[in-house]
Amino acid sequence: MESYRVMPAGTHEILVGSGIAFRLPELLAAGSRPVGAPGRIALLTDRTVAGLYLARCQKAFADAGLDVRPIAIDGQENGKTLDAVRSVFEQMEDMSFGDSDRLVALGGGVVCDVAGFAAAGYRGGCPHVILPTTLLSMVDSSMGGRCQLNFRGHKNLLSLPSAPALAVVDPSFLQTLPKRHLAAAMSEIAKFALLDDPSLLDLLEKVPFPAEEVIVRALAARARLLGAASGVPHEDSPLSLGHAVGHSIESHFRFLRFLHGEAVALGLLAVCSSPGLRDLFGRLGLPVQLDGVTAETLVRRILRDYPGHAGTLRMVLLDRPGSYRVETVAAPQAEGFLSALLARIL
Ligand SMILES: NC(=O)c1ccc[n+]([C@@H]2O[C@H](COP(=O)([O-])OP(=O)(O)OC[C@H]3O[C@@H](n4cnc5c(N)ncnc54)[C@H](O)[C@@H]3O)[C@@H](O)[C@H]2O)c1
Repeated sequence: MESYRVMPAGTHEILVGSGIAFRLPELLAAGSRPVGAPGRIALLTDRTVAGLYLARCQKAFADAGLDVRPIAIDGQENGKTLDAVRSVFEQMEDMSFGDSDRLVALGGGVVCDVAGFAAAGYRGGCPHVILPTTLLSMVDSSMGGRCQLNFRGHKNLLSLPSAPALAVVDPSFLQTLPKRHLAAAMSEIAKFALLDDPSLLDLLEKVPFPAEEVIVRALAARARLLGAASGVPHEDSPLSLGHAVGHSIESHFRFLRFLHGEAVALGLLAVCSSPGLRDLFGRLGLPVQLDGVTAETLVRRILRDYPGHAGTLRMVLLDRPGSYRVETVAAPQAEGFLSALLARIL
């Protein structure tokens, strides 16, 4: 019997199970998937994850007869840039990366985004596989959709469609993930729960944390939301809930003060009416109040980074769990509208 769950993600399958990451060669070769038995593996990771898991991955792949070429990037949020992608292109070129070779991303959302860009761009596109190692990348990056880079200090300004060939989600990686990063992922999971599956919120504080169950339910919710968002502009997608505000906070502090998920937590508190959400985030160790920046500064940044048609702002709001809507605000009212939302967290 297979020891993993298979989640459909539109373009690819997501396999979820403890310990399955190190069975990647066998999973790639299993005929039903579009990946195929690879020639060589370019294993893209960051320095922290490399220190923890590279040797074990290399051994597992080498034992299966695979030639693994590691590519390490810095992996910090402020390094999620075109420079990182350029360095991956250079190393793919150095190894004469060919049609039968596969790019595998082993890491968090930063590594997965850089890998998505590299895979989309290298010689017109090459298949890539996601091996996420943070809770956030397990529930979010594994599904693909878009990959994004920061540009000139603006969060996720560059964006391309991303369609991994396969994602292999192994919750056992979470054993080494620092608590702060585990907590940061709870905001995105709470977003899926608020939009699609409110009872998932009850699992976030459970001890011990039921990682696999949360991941599977979060992925199922995200898949439904992605389906609902198909064909609609990004700002109208329910998945963008809280992100314009969150991104403005992340960028304002140059990606140094808040983790992505922490900034999203503040963004959600600004745009959601959900009793108990602030207390839940507080208990989870997420920020619930913001200082060190004015509403005016954040409003300017949001309007610059999310220029609607003719200055019209469109934003997803949640009136109560399970019920969201897209608000359209004419240009003259946009500043006042955003300031009122930000007053909830400032
Ligand atoms: N394209 C998408 O669909 C998508 C979705 C969600 C988030 N993102 C992006 O992902 C990024 C955030 O990702 P993240 O939260 O995974 O953070 P991250 O990639 O920055 O990783 C966080 C830190 O944890 C370390 N780490 C990773 N796995 C570890 C492990 N198992 N044990 C110990 N340390 C580990 C990393 O080295 C890094 O220092 C943001 O840039 C966000 O915009 C993209």
